[in-house]
Amino acid sequence: MTFDKTYQYNFPTTIRFGAGSSGELGDYLLKNNLRQPLVVTDANVSQLVFFKKIIDGLKKKNIHAEIFSDIHKNPLKSDVYKGTDAYDLSGRDAIIGIGGGAALDVARAVVLRVNHREDLFKYDDLIGGDVYVTNEVPHFITIPTTAGTGSEVGRSAIIADDETHQKKILFSPKLLAKIVFADPLLTMELPSFITAATGMDALTHNMEAYLAKMPHPLCEGIAVEAISLISQSLEKAVNQPDLEARSKMLIASLMGAVAFQKGLGVVHSLAHPLSSLLDTHHGLANAVNLPYGMEFNSEGFEYKFRRIARALELKEETSQAVTQYLFHLNTSIHIPLHLRDIGVKPEHIEILSDLALADFAHPNNPKPVNREDFRNLYHKAL
Ligand SMILES: NC(=O)c1ccc[n+]([C@@H]2O[C@H](COP(=O)([O-])OP(=O)(O)OC[C@H]3O[C@@H](n4cnc5c(N)ncnc54)[C@H](O)[C@@H]3O)[C@@H](O)[C@H]2O)c1
Ligand SMILES: [Fe+2]
Repeated sequence: MTFDKTYQYNFPTTIRFGAGSSGELGDYLLKNNLRQPLVVTDANVSQLVFFKKIIDGLKKKNIHAEIFSDIHKNPLKSDVYKGTDAYDLSGRDAIIGIGGGAALDVARAVVLRVNHREDLFKYDDLIGGDVYVTNEVPHFITIPTTAGTGSEVGRSAIIADDETHQKKILFSPKLLAKIVFADPLLTMELPSFITAATGMDALTHNMEAYLAKMPHPLCEGIAVEAISLISQSLEKAVNQPDLEARSKMLIASLMGAVAFQKGLGVVHSLAHPLSSLLDTHHGLANAVNLPYGMEFNSEGFEYKFRRIARALELKEETSQAVTQYLFHLNTSIHIPLHLRDIGVKPEHIEILSDLALADFAHPNNPKPVNREDFRNLYHKAL
């Protein structure tokens, strides 16, 4: 690791972590004089028992939440516009995101849009749009209900264009939540498929962040510890969930999002086009590609894989052992080992390779990745 210039390191917001912490929401709002929040969630979460309990708890404290849940699983710009209309029409004073990464990303993009009314993609970080995020933003609170994206502690939202489905990143430190209530009890009833897919997203964040080019020992430490927590708990959280496994997964997913300020890599670039082209769940797309991407990264980075192998408590501290572990883990949590099993066809590979090359994640990969590499990786994983 060489520190060849000055780097910026950021750490997130206040986190209230623990079983029952979501019950503190009402008192927190009252303390901050907020009584008219917009709650952004998805249609499915809005019907769950814990969600209704949270909203009822607010009502009892005379806090009148407006609920907006009309969003897509890979969120679209029009979702954000509709959510902002809901904020405007009912005179809201705060935004609470409750849900998985999709709901939290829409909530964060609405936070941006409330006082920034140019075309949403003018603020696209990849074209330097973050400089236009200059106005105040509403008070923002996040409550994650999946253990995967870690979007609750993030400062970016991934939103796709309605027509092209190309994903854009809205980014600004202003989009960080003021407080996160991370309550593992809310994840107890997560279906096993979602637990598996979101958990593999968290593992991918931590592995890619650990390997990413930027020198950042703070995040490397966090990522390695989170890899260890996931290896102790993901299989259990999928097959025999208990509070301990759910808690470890929730904190590890949050750690992943803290760690990936360091960057992501080749696996996310392989995964993103699957979501934009075939609407594949983000975590599932990462899960299938992860062993192949790690195999690709191993040469030249053996010392880093040794550390990962140690965190996973593998007998052999080699990159091959790490790749084998990932295939076994996918099998044990019922995730397919091949892209063909999740709807990818040979004829998709050329366009997938173009999209992967254009993706924002791989420039931070420890090894450069060209179009031929992406093509080979998709063929290998097919
Ligand atoms: N902002 C970021 O840094 C970042 C990082 C990675 C991914 N993402 C985005 O996050 C999204 C994926 O998020 P996700 O993996 O959390 O999936 P998700 O938000 O789509 O949720 C998956 C499913 O689980 C359901 N669900 C959520 N919580 C539940 C609970 N407690 N019990 C039962 N069901 C529940 C949801 O209704 C949904 O059907 C993608 O849009 C991706 O682009 C964002
Ligand atoms: Fe991810």
